Amino acid sequence: MSDRELRVSKIRNGTVVDHITAGQALNVLAILGIDADSGETVSVGMRVPSDRLGSKDIVKVEGRELSQDEVDVLSLIAPAASINIVQEFDVVKKHRVERPEEVVGVLSCPNRHCITTEDEPVESRFDVLDDGIRCTYCDTIVRDSIPEQIDVA
Ligand code: CTP
Ligand code: ZN
Repeated sequence: MSDRELRVSKIRNGTVVDHITAGQALNVLAILGIDADSGETVSVGMRVPSDRLGSKDIVKVEGRELSQDEVDVLSLIAPAASINIVQEFDVVKKHRVERPEEVVGVLSCPNRHCITTEDEPVESRFDVLDDGIRCTYCDTIVRDSIPEQIDVA
């Protein structure tokens, strides 16, 4: 992409989540626990033109890397995303997200009586299926509404 086409400034240090499924950027921010009060410097591009995807979203978070749990959940809503680690303006590491076998934390179980949603110190855990996720503790299956289960901190 030429500099004239660059919509969102390059960052010096941090993480660029690129090739996000168009329309999912706000859900990605929620997965990363970023909101108006989180105090982080973040750039967001929504439905920007992409050679590979036609149109894509992009999120640039300055000064931090993502946890594996965050990346695992991200892969469920943005399966083509790539994670780019930037140091001193250079991309020093780049990898595609992979659909994991299970996801831990970040999402909450929709079952109000699940042990993970009671006042117990039990972290949420879901097995990843072909077409959704299943709570390891109560077997509740979440298919289309994964974004609604993103834990708001
Ligand atoms: N990027 C950034 N700040 C930097 C370096 C890169 O914001 N200092 C962004 C770029 O704008 C791009 C992404 O990180 O969206 C990946 O950068 P790069 O690997 O240089 O781009 P491409 O080769 O186009 O990546 P890909 O092949 O993954 O599409
Ligand atoms: Zn459950």
